[in-house]
Order: sequence, then C-alpha cells, then structure tokens
Amino acid sequence: MTSAPPQTGPRAADAGHGAANRQSQIDLHRDLAPRYAYRYGFEFSRLFQEDWHGEMISHVPKGARLLLDIGCGTGFFLAELAEHHPGAVGLDISHDMLKVSDQYVPNARLVTGDAERLPFVDGGFDVVFCKGSLHHTRDHVAFLAECGRMLGPTGVLIMSEPCNDNPLIRLARKILYKKSKHFDEGDEGFTRRGIVSLTERAGFEVTLVKKYGVFAYVFAGFPDHLGILRFVPGNAWITRFLIGFDRVLCAIPGLSILGFHIVVVGRPRA
Ligand SMILES: C[S@@+](CC[C@H](N)C(=O)[O-])C[C@H]1O[C@@H](n2cnc3c(N)ncnc32)[C@H](O)[C@@H]1O
Repeated sequence: MTSAPPQTGPRAADAGHGAANRQSQIDLHRDLAPRYAYRYGFEFSRLFQEDWHGEMISHVPKGARLLLDIGCGTGFFLAELAEHHPGAVGLDISHDMLKVSDQYVPNARLVTGDAERLPFVDGGFDVVFCKGSLHHTRDHVAFLAECGRMLGPTGVLIMSEPCNDNPLIRLARKILYKKSKHFDEGDEGFTRRGIVSLTERAGFEVTLVKKYGVFAYVFAGFPDHLGILRFVPGNAWITRFLIGFDRVLCAIPGLSILGFHIVVVGRPRA
C-alpha cells in the first residue's frame, strides 16, 4: 500500500471547504470500515453486490488491461476486477478502508490518495471505475476531470452513483444523511440530468445512462442498515428474484424513476 506524495502548487492551497470535507470523509470511513466487512458477509448481500459489479464490468471494452477503481473502499469490487485484470489499482482517501482491502485483495495495488488530485500520470489507465465515491466529494467536475486525465483517448469511465430523480428517494436520503452518523450530511445524490451535465462539463461524451437497483438494493444491498432479509428463509433465492425484478423496472421508462443508483458510462471527448 502506498500513499500519494504531498501536493504542492496552487491546488495545495485549496479552499477550506474541500479540505474539511476530505478530513470528514476520512473520519467517517474510519468508523465505517468494519461495517463494510459485515455488509458483504452474507450470501444474499454478496449476490446483490456481485450483480451490481457485473453490471459495471459489462461495460469494460474488450482488450482493456489497466483498470483503476477510485474510492475502492474495502476492495470487494476491486477483488472481482483484479481476478480478471491482474494489476488493477485501487485508490481511496481512507487508509482504514484500504487496510480491509489489503485482506480481500492482497495482490492488488492500493494507493491512499484523493480522487480530486490523483497521483498517477496522464493516460495511464484504460478504464476508470467509480462506485459510490463521486457523491462524497464537493468539486464533482474536478473529480471527473481527474478521471478523464487518467484515460487515454480510447479510455472509458464507468461509474455508479446514488440517484435522486425520485423525490421520495431524495427526501429519504436527505433525512438519512442528516440523522445517521454513518453518513455525511453534505453528501448528496444526483439527478440523471445533473450527473450527465457534470460528466460532460468534465470533458466526457456520455455513451450510456441507466438506472440500477430498486427492491434488491434496499433489502439485500445493505444488511448493516436494513437487515430484515437475514432472518428470512430462502433469502438468496428472494434476492435473485428481486435483482431480476429490479432490472425489469429499471428498463421501463416510466418506472425507472424508482432506481436508487444511476450507472453512467463516458468516453473522453476527442
Ligand atoms: C460509499 S464508499 C464505496 C466504496 C466501494 N466503492 C464500494 O462500493 O464498496 C465511498 C468510498 O469513497 C471514498 N472517498 C471519499 N472521498 C474520497 C476522495 N476524495 N478520494 C478518494 N476516495 C474517496 C471513501 O473513503 C469510501 O471508501
């Protein structure tokens, strides 16, 4: 595991807001690291997460070799990437999360660093992933522009972020992020239009947008928050059914507003 060298220059004098947020993300995720191991510790929750990962991995272009997972956390997704693409790199601002990654993916390259100032050379990767980390930052365009800097002209950005198109989901998230000590009040989900606009402003052409996760997301995704399925016999079978049902819902234009996450794929604009 390596740490990014200290930054110098004008960006090092970054305004207090971003710096304060980075510190609160580090503090927040120090406490969350053990919860993630628990979250992925059930057959049904792993089934859901693996399907979600499969959705993201399905957008990797043939022949891609060098993969970077930004905000890799405890490395559950990175482990799957590393299985098919040895040498996949995981970066996270939380050293405590990466210490758990070290157990899941002992052979991956793990880097402690900030997504808004990535410590890698330009064009070093074929694919950059971001699963649930963009919304933890405050300068989304800077984050996405850094993703673009990592990619060569044929590179691909694949991300999945919380979606707030549904006003009820937006309200529920707002309350949860405010009331629960497991979230940061300043974090926020995106609307479809909002995340597409941010991605384009950062220099990408958006090639795919789709919603992901409704009932399986709620009931199987996060047993550390909602653990009801733990007590239900046949929970793996139920999860498989819900995953399939969610896919149908997310594919129907009027009903896709029910989706809790949004998957966005982009390519650097020529
Ligand atoms: C919701 S977790 C997702 C973890 C992982 N991708 C997963 O799906 O299990 C968000 C992760 O983003 C990381 N993070 C937050 N702000 C970051 C930043 N500025 N740079 C890099 N990582 C950051 C957190 O430490 C945390 O591990």
